[in-house]
Amino acid sequence: MKVIDAIKTRKSVRSFLDTPIENEKMNTILNAARLAPSASNLQEWRFIIVSDPNLRSKLAEAANGQTFVGEAPIIIVACAETHNHVMSCGQLCYPIDVAIALDHITLVAVEQGLGTCWIGAFNEQKVKETLSIPNEIRVVELMPIGYPADPSISEKNRLSLDEIVKYEHW
Ligand SMILES: Cc1cc2nc3c(=O)[nH]c(=O)nc-3n(C[C@H](O)[C@H](O)[C@H](O)COP(=O)(O)O)c2cc1C
Repeated sequence: MKVIDAIKTRKSVRSFLDTPIENEKMNTILNAARLAPSASNLQEWRFIIVSDPNLRSKLAEAANGQTFVGEAPIIIVACAETHNHVMSCGQLCYPIDVAIALDHITLVAVEQGLGTCWIGAFNEQKVKETLSIPNEIRVVELMPIGYPADPSISEKNRLSLDEIVKYEHW
């Protein structure tokens, strides 16, 4: 699959089949995250792979009760082991770097016939308690992953290029 086709096909999947994900596919997907770029090559991302149904349902509760999160066969809990490094542009590195790695995950998941959804609506403390994550670690996103119940391609509601691109000056 071409990258542009994976980008066009990816959508937020909020309904999953029970079908388990093959280990080989998960390894391919996690390796794509491992290969992502990061500021100063810090690679502060850490991933917890959660498949236990009881933990998944607790994570769904921690995700403000978004029950579909717990219905995916796996939830990737994207964390950062970080010293809060800030780039000279003033931006914090780890949220950007973890997001790049997760975007690799979403695109390779599509290539593998899988669907994902970014989950930013969650209570970090509850996620930490559920998975015994140490205090100094940040939880950046949750990402349920599985075979989509509806694999059809959906229309993307996006601003036009004219609205988001400027040339030479603001
Ligand atoms: C950082 C981030 C956080 C998000 N958090 C949630 C969430 O908590 N729950 C949810 O259902 N969707 C969440 N989304 C999905 C967005 O709603 C979705 O990406 C957007 O509406 C565009 O739709 P698409 O992903 O199908 O193209 C999140 C997306 C991003 C990038």
